[in-house]
Amino acid sequence: MSVTAFIENLRAEVRGLPAYNAGLSAEFVRERYGVSHVAKLGSNENPRGASAAVLAHLAEFTTTSTLALYPDPSCSALRALIAERLAVDPEHLLFGNGSEDLLAIAAHTFLAPGDEVITVIPSFGLHIIYPQSVGAKVVTVPMRSDFEFDVDALIAAISPRTRMLIISNPSNPVGCAMDGAEMRRLLSAVSPETLVLWDEAYFEYASDEHGYPDSLAVLRESGLPWLLLRTFSKAYGLAGLRVGYGVASAPELAGLMDRVRTPFNINQIAQQAATVAFGDQAHVAASVADARAGRDWMSAALVGLGVNPARSRANFLFFDCGEDAAELAGKMLEDGVIVKPWREPGYENCMRVSVGNAADNALFIRSFDRRRTV
Ligand SMILES: Cc1ncc(COP(=O)(O)O)c(C=O)c1O
Repeated sequence: MSVTAFIENLRAEVRGLPAYNAGLSAEFVRERYGVSHVAKLGSNENPRGASAAVLAHLAEFTTTSTLALYPDPSCSALRALIAERLAVDPEHLLFGNGSEDLLAIAAHTFLAPGDEVITVIPSFGLHIIYPQSVGAKVVTVPMRSDFEFDVDALIAAISPRTRMLIISNPSNPVGCAMDGAEMRRLLSAVSPETLVLWDEAYFEYASDEHGYPDSLAVLRESGLPWLLLRTFSKAYGLAGLRVGYGVASAPELAGLMDRVRTPFNINQIAQQAATVAFGDQAHVAASVADARAGRDWMSAALVGLGVNPARSRANFLFFDCGEDAAELAGKMLEDGVIVKPWREPGYENCMRVSVGNAADNALFIRSFDRRRTV
């Protein structure tokens, strides 16, 4: 049997899956474009990196740990710390190889072919790809033209077939945040047969902003089944180690996801680093302060160039650049600047740029201004 014939026999939903656009690496851009410095502003990483406490711990790792042993499958130390800080029962928690792993596990656990999932557009690609991979039908609700959540339209999209509602708050890629009143209004329209997947990958950047919801409290109040996701990839600066965590409304839901996940999905190094990182909230606060200062600077610089970024509560900005963003982003690579041009239909003129360090932010603004044609 040829590979083509073999592939033709596979599930249609797998054959039809779009590839996730994971962005370019700095090494690739350096080599391909012959630039000495790359401003990697396409993946919303933390320019401050991991905390000094994490680096010191990892330097000792090889002498204090045994790589020949499997990691703790239940992440006990990290679980205990997070449970205490969030005041949740440890059995409600689960861990993923990045929160993207938890998104995949949730799709495989809670969705069946033909189920309907509601999310927004523009969206985080995996909020669509993972449900589609299990045969679910994804309904996308456009953000408002002022790049805020359209809660009325989300409520109108909910149907008796809706099995999952997926929202990132703050939104990736837009950066806007839904406030507590709007979150309550949205959840009050959801039926108990729908799981609410509330993705707070950028929680730390927004948590002390006026109006930003105490999502755990609002989700609990809703009485719905829900899963709240957070990550160590952003404000904690550990994207390379892949640790995300989830809080489920009931231990039974966490237990089901536990059966679907691979048992050792968080490696030893990642568990230890995340445990140390969680204890260093000063590093998180400094990272958030950097991101806000850089975001304000970039936002003002863009406004100065006649561009209006969406109001962002996260470590990135999203805006309509008035021309094909993929073409413009391609030219900016020649200056060593990586950004994320949006590819979803209707948003091809939009670009998302991460907030980096001051020098990279300035390089972005210079390159954007030099390379744009409108
Ligand atoms: C909204 C959202 N959810 C989840 C993720 C996945 O993050 P990670 O797998 O690194 O935890 C990202 C990453 O950019 C994101 O933006």
